[in-house]
Amino acid sequence: MTSTPHQEQSASAVVSLRRVSRTYGEGTGRVAALDEVSVDIDRGGFTAIMGPSGSGKSTLMNVAAGLDDVTSGEVMLAGRPLTHLDDDARTRLRREEVGFVFQAFNLVPTLSARENILLPFELAGRQVGAEQQRWIDHLVLTLGLGERIGHRPSELSGGQQQRVAIARALASRPSVIFADEPTGNLDSRSSREVLTLLRTAAREYGQTIAMVSHDPVAASYADRILVLADGRLVGDHGPLSPQQISDLLIGFEVGAA
Ligand SMILES: Nc1ncnc2c1ncn2[C@@H]1O[C@H](COP(=O)(O)OP(=O)(O)O)[C@@H](O)[C@H]1O
Ligand SMILES: [Mg+2]
Repeated sequence: MTSTPHQEQSASAVVSLRRVSRTYGEGTGRVAALDEVSVDIDRGGFTAIMGPSGSGKSTLMNVAAGLDDVTSGEVMLAGRPLTHLDDDARTRLRREEVGFVFQAFNLVPTLSARENILLPFELAGRQVGAEQQRWIDHLVLTLGLGERIGHRPSELSGGQQQRVAIARALASRPSVIFADEPTGNLDSRSSREVLTLLRTAAREYGQTIAMVSHDPVAASYADRILVLADGRLVGDHGPLSPQQISDLLIGFEVGAA
């Protein structure tokens, strides 16, 4: 361990990647999904991770959240060296510090909206205290789920299901929420609602959010835009309009799937 001292994480960073590479396959089939990516994601920000299909967006999210191993480099999550933890410690860290929102909502079909929101507490074996219950009630109300809270996912619209998933991610106030194409299955009106919610969570609750998307409109809700191409970080921008983001991406779309 002395030969590879852990990187320090700056106080404002929730997620830090240091020269992270992730390759899949071997020989001629070898793909560098991530190639020496270094980046800090700061507390309270809403960061969009953009790039053409196959550029490494999902891989970046998966290694940053400890869902996938790195081939080389280091990941720090909430001040802990994720890449140096064993599987159990990594799973615990993920349960305590990370919330997820996926394109496919990933709700448990047999559970009600309320039970889905409480599931992370159950999995972690944590009691929901009075203060936490007030926070969850507030989220349910703010997200417009009040009347639907006893319904199962199949009885909810796509937009409502994604709001349940967001409430579930926000409920435990994780250090960071990773959202992978959260509006990919939604119509434009539901997409706007979901994106507004994510932006509000960052601005009003100080919730750190990292959202993978290839949609310039979605990314325009973020206050920082990272651009990946061929597994490399090729852009790091402040807030931009959808048109500016489209213009930015055009140069990287060539040859993309
Ligand atoms: N489990 C895997 N096995 C083999 N190749 C993979 C795997 N996951 C991703 N890749 C490859 O890594 C590259 C980046 O993929 P991904 O991170 O999913 O890109 P994006 O999310 O930007 O579309 C692609 O070339 C993809 O085919
Ligand atoms: Mg992807």
